Amino acid sequence: MIDIEFVRSRFIKHFDGQTGNVYTSPGRINLIGEHTDYNGGFVFPGAVDKGITAEMRVNGTEDTVMAYAIDLKDRVDFHLNDPAGPKASWARYIYGIAKEFQKLGVPVKGFNIAFAGDVPLGAGMSSSAAMESCFACGLNDLFGDNKVSQWDMVLAGQATEHNYCGVNCGIMDQFASVFGKAGCLMRLDCRSREFEYFPFKPDGYRLVLLDSVVKHQLAGSPYNDRRNSCENVVKHIAAKHPEGKFETLRDCTWEQLEEVKAEVGDEDYMRAKFVLGEKDRVLAVCDALNEGDYEKVGEMMYKTHEGLSKDYEVSCVELDYLNDIAKECGVTGSRIMGGGFGGCTINLVRNDLYKKFVETAKQKFNEKYGHEPKVYDVVIGDGSRRLC
Ligand code: GLA
Repeated sequence: MIDIEFVRSRFIKHFDGQTGNVYTSPGRINLIGEHTDYNGGFVFPGAVDKGITAEMRVNGTEDTVMAYAIDLKDRVDFHLNDPAGPKASWARYIYGIAKEFQKLGVPVKGFNIAFAGDVPLGAGMSSSAAMESCFACGLNDLFGDNKVSQWDMVLAGQATEHNYCGVNCGIMDQFASVFGKAGCLMRLDCRSREFEYFPFKPDGYRLVLLDSVVKHQLAGSPYNDRRNSCENVVKHIAAKHPEGKFETLRDCTWEQLEEVKAEVGDEDYMRAKFVLGEKDRVLAVCDALNEGDYEKVGEMMYKTHEGLSKDYEVSCVELDYLNDIAKECGVTGSRIMGGGFGGCTINLVRNDLYKKFVETAKQKFNEKYGHEPKVYDVVIGDGSRRLC
């Protein structure tokens, strides 16, 4: 986690010398359940011990926000009443959360903020959700009397992506960042929003992320196209079954998908096929975890990778190569993590194989792409909170 004193020293230097309150929110991993959140399915994320830390203080103005992104050394001041909001993409997360909180009735006024992060950007570990939840946590404390519920914070983060950042994401990332608990993964039903904590201590195994360093970018990207494909399939199924209630692919069966195969076209069919399979895989993983059957968990992870690569088409050659290396090394499970189009693979590795796997991956990837993947050992940490 980012050192509080580091953030504080910049906050003091760039504003009026006074200190504020400090908040932090984590990025996330996801064991399995990819692109299922906006399809009403299940996800299996956990918060990590890396995230965004912000110092914030009310500045007494009606609507002036003075913001400093420490890592980028970039200062942006903007007005909450300006309907266009700031141009800098990082500042739009602050603006978006503030506007969404105002919609909830929280009387957000001017404030100063400086923030820094140690969750890698564009690695598929939800650095943007970490920002949103961190700012939400701060605004809730400064202006909302901490009365905004955790779920409303999650939804404000998601609405920020939709309304100010151009990504029609689901709720997994913001959920994991707000609700995370050290040592636990969480199984969330994205339709009912019910969830349970799953202590995750795989005996004899560990989770490691390999970052391809191919920057994943979801804004204005094929991410939204994937979502549109899924919604199109649901529309066709609903039209065929006026008696039923079909809101997302969660409500659809394999048979119903087959019925509309010809009319939705190959591409949308493949996308939906992946999602239905993934929905089943998350449940299979839950059973396997309950039985301590990590080999089964790993098998499902490889299947997910294959689906994400071939049917959902959100992989890239670098991620497929990392997956191949994992397979060759006998790693238990490996797959793309997060939205895709770059970023990391998540790997479930037996302790005795860990060293060999990481070394082989570094060496082979370097030979092929001229640089090593970055390696992050996963530590499952706590969710959004005030530090001081
Ligand atoms: C991104 C989105 C999430 C989710 C994942 C894919 O991280 O923000 O809502 O859809 O991709 O599982």
